[in-house]
Amino acid sequence: MRIGIPKDPRSGRKLAAATPDTVGKLAKLGYEVVVEAGAGAAADYPDGAYAAAGAAIVEPADAWGADIVLVVDAPDQAFVERMKPGTTLIGRLDPWNNEPLQQLCQERGLTALAVDAVPRLSRAQSLDVRSSMMNVAGYRTVIEAAAAFSRTFAGQVTAAGKTKPARVFVIGVGVAGLAAIGTAGALGAQVFATDVRADVADQVESLGATFVPIPVVQQSADGYAQALDEQQERLTQAVYEEQCALSDVVITTAQVPGRPAPLLITAQAVEAMKPGSVIVDMGASPLGGNCELSQAGQAVCTPGGVTILGYDDLPGRLPGQASQLYGQNMVNLLKLLTPGKDGRLALDLDDEVQRGITMTLDGQGMWPPPPVKVSAAPAPVDSGKEEAGNTAGKGGSPMAAALSPASPEDASLQATQRADAHTMRGLLWKALAAVVVVALVAAAPAEMQGSFFIFALACVVGFYVITSVTHRLHTPLMAVTNAISGIIVVGAILQMCSSPQPAVAVLAAIAVAIASINIFGGFLVTHRMLKMFERSSE
Ligand code: NAI
Repeated sequence: MRIGIPKDPRSGRKLAAATPDTVGKLAKLGYEVVVEAGAGAAADYPDGAYAAAGAAIVEPADAWGADIVLVVDAPDQAFVERMKPGTTLIGRLDPWNNEPLQQLCQERGLTALAVDAVPRLSRAQSLDVRSSMMNVAGYRTVIEAAAAFSRTFAGQVTAAGKTKPARVFVIGVGVAGLAAIGTAGALGAQVFATDVRADVADQVESLGATFVPIPVVQQSADGYAQALDEQQERLTQAVYEEQCALSDVVITTAQVPGRPAPLLITAQAVEAMKPGSVIVDMGASPLGGNCELSQAGQAVCTPGGVTILGYDDLPGRLPGQASQLYGQNMVNLLKLLTPGKDGRLALDLDDEVQRGITMTLDGQGMWPPPPVKVSAAPAPVDSGKEEAGNTAGKGGSPMAAALSPASPEDASLQATQRADAHTMRGLLWKALAAVVVVALVAAAPAEMQGSFFIFALACVVGFYVITSVTHRLHTPLMAVTNAISGIIVVGAILQMCSSPQPAVAVLAAIAVAIASINIFGGFLVTHRMLKMFERSSE
């Protein structure tokens, strides 16, 4: 079969659905690839590079006339009309809001596959174009913010004085939010982040940022946020207002699937921000955005000196990389659809991933697909909450979500109670440890008491040093503890060989066993982690 890669004729569209690299991979699946002249030019992929990779450079009619047409965004009617009946259109077709395209594909007998609807199952991650684009967009939000900000993100100590690092606040910790946190942290900013899904706190902290709790906590059955009611919106907006006033840069990435972006930052919150602050609103669209004052596609500056960037083409601002990732997602999809690697498309509707993206099949309407239980769902917290979620879901919402509204007073009371219980448990453990150490010192022979004292002191110092190490230094810390385990093994073997006392020999043998678990366990875990990054052979 022949795959066509047309050029998006709309102005400002820079992404291509294939790059020279991915064209080569499509050819290996047995397809013949034709690329419209200039299709990749705006992403820095010249026609010559596609030709060198084995594609034929053709006129628009030939690209649209192929058996399978790969596009980035839903094409206009005039282009769909150029497709032959029985052929397949693949791209981000926005099936939730694009009834006319579905009608047209039905009338023309086309198969339409919407890659923006890939179910979020672990095995479908390699086809997930939304994640690829959000990842690129999240990175770009930080670059745009840094360019609009009048200071460096990293603090500096120079001969001319000291400057503070920028304080960056990220709202919404999905794929884009995580990319933004990582990038801002890498530039040296002090990063804070929040989300209504409280289970992302660990992810935030593992990137070295600080999670800011908000008085609304969601647990949803599919891992995605649900729209807030008016009271919850007010409560969260109050926290955002407070944080925005403290921050130099605010990046908003909050989305609720199937709805316009939620309003997070009110005009009043913008007014309270320092002059020179920057807001990047990833949710900006003609329907509104995460910030009340943002304008889709525009950079605006308020009278108070706050710059608000509402760019809606963030992946298009890194067209080379975004096209490569999008093209690779297409290759992964076509691998799934071409089990025989024989250049023939074989759609398997029993596979929930393939069924989930099928909008029309040979002119037959297939949208919406049956719901899929996706892997983004966190484990349920407790049965009480789960029950509440099921009741909420019966209202017709596709997301059976348990939303636990809490007043700020309730939330802070619960947080204080949890902190008190945590402190009490900590004190009990410390007291128990002190009793054990004192008992051991008292029972030990006089000549060993000095060693026990050093051991107890090492435990205390070690505890405080290790718990103060930031997440990003945990890998070197593991290497150091492995080295210490090595020293323990050598010392314990010496004791086993030289000590006349059987008790010392037994203790030394136990020390060798425990330290060996650390060393060999470390190797095994590292090996498993490295395997996760191994590329499968093409
Ligand atoms: P998204 O683009 O739908 O939303 C961005 C973030 O905004 C979400 O984290 C959401 O909780 C948050 N949000 C919504 N309303 C908010 C409010 N009022 N205040 C603060 N935050 C608010 O999210 P995305 O990137 O699609 O990720 C959602 C989940 O799906 C994540 O857990 C992600 O890890 C998972 N995922 C799973 C994939 C797979 O298994 N194939 C692929 C991609 C994502």
